[in-house]
Amino acid sequence: MRIDVFSIFPDYLTPLDLSLIGKARRTGLLDLTVHDLRDFTHDRHRTVDDAPAGGGAGMVMKPEPWAEALETLAQGEARPTLLVPSPSGKPFTQAMARELARQDWLAFACGRYEGIDERVYEHAATLMPVQPFSLGDYVLNGGEVAVLAVVEAVARLIPGVIGNAESLVEESHEDGLLEYPVYTKPAVWQDREVPPVLMSGHHAQIDRWRRDERLRRTARRRPDLIGVLDPEGTDKNDRAVLLDEGWEPAGSRFQPVTDPVAD
Ligand code: ADE
Repeated sequence: MRIDVFSIFPDYLTPLDLSLIGKARRTGLLDLTVHDLRDFTHDRHRTVDDAPAGGGAGMVMKPEPWAEALETLAQGEARPTLLVPSPSGKPFTQAMARELARQDWLAFACGRYEGIDERVYEHAATLMPVQPFSLGDYVLNGGEVAVLAVVEAVARLIPGVIGNAESLVEESHEDGLLEYPVYTKPAVWQDREVPPVLMSGHHAQIDRWRRDERLRRTARRRPDLIGVLDPEGTDKNDRAVLLDEGWEPAGSRFQPVTDPVAD
């Protein structure tokens, strides 16, 4: 996969030299280039920002350097999908990571300050698909940290980037549930034991225990995920655990158990 990242702080992206992503770059699985947006300015101060039209706080990224930078991606036949980190983008999910991992070419435009002049999005959309995305409902100082997160989430799904492909299947969010708790040796540590079923060697019981823990943990930490679970994909045991956590099937959804109305 080819990835191009544009930023006024290219050094912010140096963690992409490390660990499995760094290795994927060195072995050629990932062809990732970080570009300095200021290389697409032509004034002595390499200016990338200006005052907001209409007034207000902060500065806005100027359209000209962005247009020139993004036009370099539209020279040949092939086009990348342009991902723009922004707190007003579509929430980034594992499903999006899976979708992006199938593409040949991604580009990222890291905004800073109060954001990028809106006309850049319109211009870019005439050249390539554009997808603003958000990491979550909070505000970062710029898009670089969001790009680190998305590149890691996507690149680890490219075949060959992670040695143990099996570990990709049993993960939080792969099937709408959070991951089960994990333990290692020693069997007893500071008077706390590893749940005995995990030491039993009984694989069916271990699988069942793990599934129960995933359901309980998801119900407690992320009730929104239980609310979109399809009862069709659950068995009797699942439904008993969910009932214990206060959820009952209602048609094609689960809903919080409704107390019978007292009269
Ligand atoms: N840039 C600033 N805040 C952001 C967020 N929450 N997600 C993605 N990019 C951002």
